[in-house]
Amino acid sequence: MRPAVELRPIVELTGVTRAYGSRLALDRVDLALHAGELTFLVGPSGSGKTTLLRLINREIRPTSGQVSVAGIAAHELKTSRIAELRRRVGVVFQDYKLLPRLTALENVAFGLQVGDLRVSDEEARDRALDALEAVGLGDRGRAFPHQLSGGQQQRVAIARAVVAQPPVLIADEPTGNLDQDTAWEIMDLFEDIAAWGTAVLVATHNVEIVTRLKRRVVTLVCGRLVRDQPAGQTGRMAWLALS
Ligand SMILES: Nc1ncnc2c1ncn2[C@@H]1O[C@H](COP(=O)(O)OP(=O)(O)O)[C@@H](O)[C@H]1O
Ligand SMILES: [Mg+2]
Repeated sequence: MRPAVELRPIVELTGVTRAYGSRLALDRVDLALHAGELTFLVGPSGSGKTTLLRLINREIRPTSGQVSVAGIAAHELKTSRIAELRRRVGVVFQDYKLLPRLTALENVAFGLQVGDLRVSDEEARDRALDALEAVGLGDRGRAFPHQLSGGQQQRVAIARAVVAQPPVLIADEPTGNLDQDTAWEIMDLFEDIAAWGTAVLVATHNVEIVTRLKRRVVTLVCGRLVRDQPAGQTGRMAWLALS
């Protein structure tokens, strides 16, 4: 059973425009994400998906408009408070970005301690193990990234992203390097994480998965949010927009 979606958004973009020099990457985008909701972000290459995710994580700031994340105004956030925002946003990348010299367990524990220095080594290990168990890798904590398959490495990266139980999880083409069966397993995991009450936003080109899961789908074309399809609709996907 899905938990009831809270009315108050956990992430809210209002009139967000972002330019790189003279190039407009996002153009007056409005978007609200809620706890417990899995949303797919689709659109052609260059349509602004990565830019939108980077705004939520305060890697970049909007040229104009507002970005609110878990009650924090990201668009006007001082550099000194960025860490506070990042603790509330887990991030997953296409290429996993694990530290090669650390074990799976250490990678996940590091994700916790880098965000909050008050966490002891012991607590970090315990919580990292819980997170690895939650992604089905409780028995691979001692493995180094190169000893794991791509799908397993992405699971470790997801464990690292959620170990601090952030209210928001963003993922940029998380299955882009994986075969379709493994991609399904990873997307199942995002569904579980949303079911725990997290707002999950996944940028993807995986047409089959997006179509079959029937979750909310937000489509960007040339920086404009052109379609926001609620969950549960079979609807016709904007096929062209996905390619
Ligand atoms: N760091 C950057 N500097 C200049 N232009 C950029 C930069 N990042 C993205 N862009 C441009 O912004 C637009 C949106 O890019 P991006 O957000 O990466 O789209 P997507 O993730 O959908 O492929 C593209 O035209 C891209 O070339
Ligand atoms: Mg991108």
